[in-house]
Amino acid sequence: MLNTADENRRRHDLHPDHPVWLFGYGSLIYKADFPYLARRPASISGWVRRFWQGSHDHRGTPDKPGRVVTLIEAPGMVCAGMAYRITPDVFEHLDHREKNGYLRVTTPLSFADGQHEQGLVYIATADNAAFLGEASEPQIADHIAASHGPSGSNAEYLLQLAEALRQLDVVDEHVFHIEHYLLRACD
Ligand code: SIN
Repeated sequence: MLNTADENRRRHDLHPDHPVWLFGYGSLIYKADFPYLARRPASISGWVRRFWQGSHDHRGTPDKPGRVVTLIEAPGMVCAGMAYRITPDVFEHLDHREKNGYLRVTTPLSFADGQHEQGLVYIATADNAAFLGEASEPQIADHIAASHGPSGSNAEYLLQLAEALRQLDVVDEHVFHIEHYLLRACD
């Protein structure tokens, strides 16, 4: 399925008056182009962030997709990001933004103070049409260096994500290694 917006609209029966938590782990950490009621660093368990999803609509094109992050199941691992409390009408915008293969999935979230909440997260699974899958970190860096799309360069996506993670005091070796290879190639 190349456009997941309609499927996402059908997936959850959200009450218009009941705000929900949304967990962001990629561009949703640093590009909050939507209204929110609260924003808090958070994490989810059992997943790792990987640059394994193709981007046809933001950081690449259908002919030359870029590489953006999705979550891959990894029991025992924790993925840190940012949670937003939003009203359900905001999904109209978000479902369009995340339409290239991401489906909304329900997940437990943990905040730094130990509090837990149920939330939603956009995940692009291996069976979506834009999935690119595993490659070595140097290969991913080369791919990112060569990709551009309507939202800007793929390198900008990577560098902004790495910077946002540092600001959150999050160490993500996959992201930081790819950043390292990309910056080395630009020297
Ligand atoms: C996310 O940020 O949570 C989803 C992936 C992306 O939009 O980069």
